[in-house]
Amino acid sequence: MHNIDIDLVEMTLDVMKYAINRITNVSPSLGDIKKEEELFDLVGETITPKGIGGERAFQLFRDVLVKSTVPIDHPRHLAFVPASPTRAAVMFDLVTSASSVHGAYWMEGAGGIFCENQAMKWLISLTGMPDGAFGVFTSGGTAANLSAMVTAREYWRRSAAHVNRKGLIMTSVGAHSSIKAMAKVIDADVHLVETEDRLTADLLRREIRSLPAEKRQNLFAVVATGGTTNAGIIDDLEGIAGVCREEGLWYHVDAAYGGGALAADSVRHLFDGIEKADSITIDPHKWLFSPYDCGAVLYRDPSLALEAHKQEGSYLDIFKDEGASGFNPADYQIQLTRRLRGMPLWFSLATHGTDKYKWAVERGISLANIAGELIEQRSDLSLVRPPSLSCVLFRREGWDPQRYRDWTYRNHREGIALVTPTQWKTEKGYETVLRFCFINPDTTVEDIKLILDTLKD
Ligand SMILES: Cc1ncc(COP(=O)(O)O)c(C=O)c1O
Repeated sequence: MHNIDIDLVEMTLDVMKYAINRITNVSPSLGDIKKEEELFDLVGETITPKGIGGERAFQLFRDVLVKSTVPIDHPRHLAFVPASPTRAAVMFDLVTSASSVHGAYWMEGAGGIFCENQAMKWLISLTGMPDGAFGVFTSGGTAANLSAMVTAREYWRRSAAHVNRKGLIMTSVGAHSSIKAMAKVIDADVHLVETEDRLTADLLRREIRSLPAEKRQNLFAVVATGGTTNAGIIDDLEGIAGVCREEGLWYHVDAAYGGGALAADSVRHLFDGIEKADSITIDPHKWLFSPYDCGAVLYRDPSLALEAHKQEGSYLDIFKDEGASGFNPADYQIQLTRRLRGMPLWFSLATHGTDKYKWAVERGISLANIAGELIEQRSDLSLVRPPSLSCVLFRREGWDPQRYRDWTYRNHREGIALVTPTQWKTEKGYETVLRFCFINPDTTVEDIKLILDTLKD
């Protein structure tokens, strides 16, 4: 199966043709998600002792299986946090695979890690973190948050008084689910400040002061959010930085979604204070137009991450040699063997330049504001809150949760759009509302109007 023969040539041509068709398709079908049994009925058993052949396997994928997936870059896919990788980045993802480079250590991956580091320097420059700050690309925001939390916890445990204590992380209800999930992984408790709105310094300070002494001793980190997933809200990063400094706490900013907006001059001031963070998460696979998967974790002092993450083993000893010296991404996050997943971002940045990135991110923000204006012009719709970053929360007057769900499924089935409901906390409890999240700069005002028109009775 490692031979080069005519079957391989034909399969390669099929794959390249598919890739070219796919990346030039500006409005792919929104996908028809089938149940596993239905897919099995359509394709049958694909793994057999003799193999079904590349041509057949590829045909099944192209003609059946991929049609049961949602293209994340569809211009009317406005659910969750969509994505819109540039064509340059997607093509370079193919190159990244074809190049078969181990991205853990400089000794094997030097040229590729160089590319990643160039892209990382740009990310660091967007944050304004001081000289010496640096980071690595991870599989996503969850892995970046985990890597940062492990680093923070290990730093805290340097003190003998903390060695056997269970740590506590403080964040707000608006923080992403991965913070709670990753706290479980490191067996830390999480204290949630009861706000889905902007976490302010006063609120945080009050909450810290109200902790019982035992809990206060366990508190080692605060996670602020630079663009909440639900509503695009940016916490008071400057104020929170101050509280963390006063209280001697690790200050992490989860900007997995919002981090792309650091490139946008119109909203950059909202992130003031991010440069004071001990660690930051930014996902290029969200708003920096990289293909999945590509997250990033940035550290003010990377030596603390090195201490927390460096793996030891006799088979790894060679990496300590002078002859193998260089930047080793494996030392700064949870994963050893890794794909050079920052390379597609590098290639796209190198190809297009950073100004185009600024433009494309600004476009997402403009689309959110335009959607906000269109919603306000309609008597049957109202904004839940003003658009923030590229998120818009709005309601359809008179609709209950079931009506929103039916609408979502119908629009998806009919190939119009994928827009999902969410909930927003009000004084009366949680209200089901609709949510747009704009990433794809090719989404048009007509696309927005088309979706809004489906909300009429
Ligand atoms: C603010 C925030 N943090 C973390 C994550 C998790 O990122 P990932 O899905 O790349 O692991 C998300 C995902 O939407 C997010 O919006």
